[in-house]
This record gives sequence, C-alpha cells and structure tokens, in this order.
Amino acid sequence: MDFPGGHILSIDQFDRGDIDRIFTVADSMEPYAQRRKLTKVLDGAILGNMFFEPSTRTRVSFGSAFNLLGGEVRETTGVENSAIAKGESLYDTARVLSGYSDAIVMRHPQAGSVAEFATASRVPVLNGGDGDNEHPSQALLDLYTIKKELAANGRSLDNFRIALIGDLKYGRTVHSICKLLTLFKRVQVTLVSPTELKMPEQYVDQLQSAGHTVVETDQLEESIAKVDITYSTRIQEERFASRDEANLYRGRYRLNQAIYTQYCEPNTVIMHPLPRDSRAGANELDNDLNENPNLAIFRQTDNGVLVRMALFALVLDVVDQVDRSAREVAWYTGGRLTQ
Ligand code: CP
Repeated sequence: MDFPGGHILSIDQFDRGDIDRIFTVADSMEPYAQRRKLTKVLDGAILGNMFFEPSTRTRVSFGSAFNLLGGEVRETTGVENSAIAKGESLYDTARVLSGYSDAIVMRHPQAGSVAEFATASRVPVLNGGDGDNEHPSQALLDLYTIKKELAANGRSLDNFRIALIGDLKYGRTVHSICKLLTLFKRVQVTLVSPTELKMPEQYVDQLQSAGHTVVETDQLEESIAKVDITYSTRIQEERFASRDEANLYRGRYRLNQAIYTQYCEPNTVIMHPLPRDSRAGANELDNDLNENPNLAIFRQTDNGVLVRMALFALVLDVVDQVDRSAREVAWYTGGRLTQ
C-alpha cells in the first residue's frame, strides 16, 4: 500500500512487502520505546484518539506511540461523551475531528464503522477495532511478536503451527490474524472453539486458498500438543445478546500450567491479545502461567507500542526523519532496559 496519507482499516490492504516494511520500521523504534532516546519528529502534531468501546491497551499504546514520536494526544472515550450521543453522524464527526487532528485512531462497536468514518476524514484513520470485524494493529503486533518468538528458536514466519482458541466467531483479532496469515507460506492453523463460536467460513476459506492446513475442532488438549503458538481469546461477552448466553461458553477452554506441562511441546509460545478474563468462571489463561518464560502476553503489549509507532511514522511519512531530532533521555531508565 501507499502508506503516506493512507488509512489503516483492514489487513486486506497489505501485501507481504508492506508487512516487512512495517516490521522493519517497528524494529527501528526500539530505542525510543525503551526510552534510550527521545525524538520530536511529530512535534506539533495532534492525534485524535477516539474510543467508543472500552479499551486499555489499544487506546493507551496508540496514545503512547504518538507521544513517543513527539506528538500530542486528544482523547474521546465512550459514546456518551461525544456528540454521537446527540445523533451526530459518523460523516459529520469525521469532518469535524479531522480538522482538529493530524491522525485519528478510532474504535467503534459497529463493523465497518471505522471505514465509513475514514471516507469523510481528511487525515489518516487507523482502525482500533470495529465490532466483530477487524483489529488490524492487534494482528500486526501479534505477528510481529510471533516473528520474534520464532526467531529466538531459529525459525521463520513461513512454516509454523498455531492454535487459535476460544471465541473465534466474534473475536476480531483472530479474524485479522487469519487474513494476515494468508500472506505467509505453509502455516498449520488449528481452530479450537465451541461449534456455535466457530471461525466464520470466509476466514477459513481464505486460509485454505492460501494453501494452509486448517483443522477445526472443539477439543483443547489434543490441539495444543503439536503447535508452536497457542493463541487464546476471551469470550466476547459484549457481542452476545445476554450475559447468560456468554456464560454458556465462558470457561470452556482453560489453559493453565498443568495442562501446558502435560500436553504442550517445550517452548510452545503462549499468546493472548488481552484482556484475559481472570474471573473464576472464565480464566482462559490462568495466572499460574505468569512465571512461564514462554508466556508472551506482555511481550505482545510492549511490541504493540513499536508497531503503532511504525504505523504513525509510515502514514505521516516521517520514517526517515525520526533519528534527526533524536537525543538521549535524561531520566533514570534502568528498570525498563532490563525488561
Ligand atoms: N487487545 C485489545 O484490544 O485490548 P484493549 O481492549 O484493552 O484495547
């Protein structure tokens, strides 16, 4: 894709070269994300960070990424705090906010809403998650993490095995991941879900058309026995008609240290887009895995800042200027550097 001035709405926009480019730029952001260096390349730029659904990581890491490049962040959280609650259209909101901002990140509960918003925006729009449709920046940071984890074992993104586990029907991160995997070769994908929450057919078809092996099952233990990556997901309660309906599936798949030790190969990487549901009735990724060195969930969240910095640098066309304004940080950074 042509990054400068472009929107980031769907994984469909990217080819393999684009992914390589994003990951190379993300690598170059490490000194800044780890607070070894400061850059002011986006000095004066404003991000409109608009989250009409709850978020911790996506909202704060997009904001931090913009700050780390020297820009400022203005936030709107919750429909009730926006004129959308008074009936304003996405078109009008986009026309207005793109006059106040140099880039906009948006999360919205309705599939397709961020793309609709982008058609009226005068500045790049990045999809922070639209309903049960896509979460492209999450998929990018997940794949970036997988790349790093595999590389640590001398492996590459072509020819690996992954199990996607949980609510595959409503989980937008797994939808974007499936699309992203089609750009790579010889991936074995095991889809583990209750029958009612299976991966929508379109994503299975895309994986198969790309030549990948796809197995669909409702059994956890046998599925995690021969994979390089387990990727658990939360039951997306907010997409169900009622909490009672979500409760039918919550807690169906629980990965804990005992199950990991019994079934997984050594060094199987444990991932989750987060938030994990740590309530007793759910617990799809148990806290007793916290000391497992293969638990990559907090490496994922750290990598999210790098990938989101890369996306801003690419769409605002400052990749080659980041280092020009760089200087060393003045404050104590010891703890972070030993992460
Ligand atoms: N992974 C993710 O989207 O997390 P948040 O909902 O906290 O942004």
